[in-house]
This record gives sequence, C-alpha cells and structure tokens, in this order.
Amino acid sequence: MTPLSAPVPPVPADVRPGTVAWLRASVARFSNGGDHVRRRALAVDALTSVDVEALRDNAFTRTRTIVAALDDFDVMAEIARPVPVGVLAEALGLPDVSADVTPVAAAYHPHVTPDAEAEAALGRLVSVCGGPTELAAARIGLLVQACDATAGLIGNELSARLSGKPVGQPVLRTRRRIDGEDVAVSLAGTPFGAGPRACPGSAHATALAAGVLQALQGFRLTEAETTWVSSPNLRMPARLRVTRDGTVGALC
Ligand code: HEM
Repeated sequence: MTPLSAPVPPVPADVRPGTVAWLRASVARFSNGGDHVRRRALAVDALTSVDVEALRDNAFTRTRTIVAALDDFDVMAEIARPVPVGVLAEALGLPDVSADVTPVAAAYHPHVTPDAEAEAALGRLVSVCGGPTELAAARIGLLVQACDATAGLIGNELSARLSGKPVGQPVLRTRRRIDGEDVAVSLAGTPFGAGPRACPGSAHATALAAGVLQALQGFRLTEAETTWVSSPNLRMPARLRVTRDGTVGALC
C-alpha cells in the first residue's frame, strides 16, 4: 500500500448539523471506507455535470470584468480566490457564494478551530444548498476544496510568469493514519494527489486557472518581494499586487 492510499485521520462524527465540524464529518475528504466511496461519488457526479470548457470561458470573462475597474490590486484577494469559486458555484447551479466559501476554507482542516465568521458563513452555504444533507456537504466541499488550491495554482503560475522564477506546486503535503500514527505525506511530484483520493477536480481547476491567467496578461508586479502564505502544507502567495504593464501596448 502506498502512503497516499492509507486512511485519512478520522474526524469526530458526533457533531451539530450545519457546523464546520459537521462539514468535515460529511465530506469525502475526511472520510474512510464506504463513507469515502459514497461521498466521493456524490462529488464526482456533481463535477461530471459541469462543462469544463465553459468554466475556462466564464473565468476569463469574469476576471476581465473585475480588472476593468481596478488599477493596482491584489490578484489573490480580488481574483484568484473569488473568481474560480464563483464560476464553479454558478456551474453547480448556486449563486456566487465565494465570499462565504473563503472563511469556511480557512477553517476546513481539522487542526483549525472555526471562528464565528466561519460558522456563520457555513450556515448560509448550508441554507443555499437546501439544508444539512450529505449532498449539500458534497457541493460545499467542492467549493471549499477549489478555493485555496485553485488560488494557489493561479498565484504560483502568475508569480512565476512575472518574476521569471520556477513555478511551485500549491499543495505540498497531506495527512494519513499509518500504523496508528497521524503522519504528513508528501505530494511532491503529484500536484493533484494520487490513488483513491486523488483530486477529482483537476480538469476543472486547470480550466479555471487557464481562463483567469489568460485574462491577466499584460500586468506586472508592483512589489519586489512576494509574501507567501505561512502554512507547512500550502505554497502560494498571500498577496500578489499587480498593475497594468504600460509597455505591453508598445511591444504588440
Ligand atoms: C475546481 C477546483 C477543485 C475541486 C472541485 C477539487 C476537489 C477536490 C475534492 C472533492 C477532493 C477530495 C477527494 C477525496 O477525498 O476523495 C480533492 C482532493 C485533492 N485535491 Fe482538489 N480540487 C480542486 C482543485 C485542486 C487544485 C488546484 C489542487 C492542487 C494543484 C488540488 C489538489 C488536491 C489534492 C492533492 C487532493 C488529495 C488530498 C489527499 O489525498 O489528501 N485540488 N480535491
């Protein structure tokens, strides 16, 4: 058995419906065995209904619309987090819930204690999805999984493109329970994971990132140093300020 096909550390199951703890206890990401298979199938089914090409086009158009009104801005806050989640939400038949997905994504992993903002945001997401069912958790789980990871994909690509430095992989490590111990497992060389829990959204994420990055051509960095997210598991810019590159017109 490879480390990545080992079980994930279990999360508490006796939780109040509609809370962040309930989300963890109800999604494929933190489940094992039959629960994992069934919950992953719900997520995969929902993703199968999504037109991947349309994701790219919509991400492009949405990014263009937002940046038209901006001059010097932080790509991570204005584009890389809200656009992929907003476009994916729309494709899943939901309103643009990106403002609520961001705080839930920050509280999603079991080592984080959710704050009141995350709990309130999750409450609204559960309402929009029709109540605390396993299907609602699967749809919210897709948006939450998409949030930081796709922002990382975009931020890392753009940062590399504009700085000339190599592109980093956004998700560096995950956790598994091996021989009764919870251990960090490296994802080096497998940007979307591997085995029975490999990312089911890789094509969607790639399309969303491609649309956003295409719309962000012709910008340059306005800060010499990039500030990176301080997390052992994620490698992505915390902030990436850009402005229009005045030389582009002259070069074309
Ligand atoms: C549309 C965007 C995305 C969606 C909807 C999505 C969805 C998911 C879901 C539902 C899972 C859990 C699968 C399971 O436990 O069986 C997952 C796992 C994973 N995703 Fe994604 N994801 C997205 C973007 C990304 C991106 C951009 C990356 C990194 C480049 C990424 C990396 C991973 C990895 C490494 C795992 C496996 C984690 C593990 O094995 O512990 N995902 N994703």
